[in-house]
Amino acid sequence: MTQVSSTLGAQDVPFSDSDFQALAALARREFGLSLAPSKKPLVYSRLSRRLKARHITGFPEYLQLLDKREESSERLELISALTTNVTSFFREDHHFQMLRNNCLPACAERSRNGKRVRIWSAGCSSGQEPYCIAMSVLDTIPEAHRQNIKILATDIDPQIIAKAKAGRYPAEDAASIPESYRKKWVTLESDGRSEIAMSNDLARLITFAELNLIAPWPFQGPFDAIFCRNVAIYFDQETQQKLWQRFCDLLVPGGYLFIGHSERVTGPASDLLKGVGITSYQKTATPSAAQPR
Ligand SMILES: C[S@@+](CC[C@H](N)C(=O)[O-])C[C@H]1O[C@@H](n2cnc3c(N)ncnc32)[C@H](O)[C@@H]1O
Repeated sequence: MTQVSSTLGAQDVPFSDSDFQALAALARREFGLSLAPSKKPLVYSRLSRRLKARHITGFPEYLQLLDKREESSERLELISALTTNVTSFFREDHHFQMLRNNCLPACAERSRNGKRVRIWSAGCSSGQEPYCIAMSVLDTIPEAHRQNIKILATDIDPQIIAKAKAGRYPAEDAASIPESYRKKWVTLESDGRSEIAMSNDLARLITFAELNLIAPWPFQGPFDAIFCRNVAIYFDQETQQKLWQRFCDLLVPGGYLFIGHSERVTGPASDLLKGVGITSYQKTATPSAAQPR
């Protein structure tokens, strides 16, 4: 049995291979997370803080606690410790360009004819992604508020969803927002904390909600575009492929899926999701001839 004892001081908690495997099994079962054995030191350094916070002296005890129904908030602490919330405004800007240039013009036409338009930011973290989608929507469809256009923004982490709803960020984060957008939809708060706030015009288009992507989804779509960027990277291949298929099922024909820079759509969904740009896919009505099963 390997202990990560080389990195531990006398006051530290032992972390055996079987502790790691039990945690990895729980993380996979509950959240679809894939924890390779190489992640053991990282998992230790992140979770030993949780043990200290809960005054727990061993990982077996922590695992028992995580199994308790009433400890759902500790399970969320676990996922926060094992994933990252890193995000920024107009991260991977080519996706927003494709949204504005290729996806939204057809949506504008449909919404003018009374049809619904839905865009989903799945794994939205602290909200920069859905606010950027909202800016892109209002830029392309200024009358969006008078039409049936909505953005759904979800994340598994309730604390990060609360932050996303608040829509306040350090002022320096605004640097990556185009100036014309900043002028219209971003205000500098004058309470001395050097914060920016997202305008109500953006917030009105967005519905924020908690959602575990590997659990059942309480809606059926369809969606015109789905952003799920830098989330599936934590999942094993089987979980990723199921997720791509579920997204594909919820997209309208011609709808777009945008994923993170180190992610790729693979598996059965790649029959219908055709690559149309960097980590950008469009759902075709018929299976792609280029990728026979
Ligand atoms: C790195 S952030 C990505 C934020 C944004 N999409 C971007 O690319 O900038 C990853 C987010 O995925 C969320 N996440 C991780 N596992 C999840 C799951 N099973 N269901 C829903 N969200 C999850 C995390 O809470 C985190 O906020």
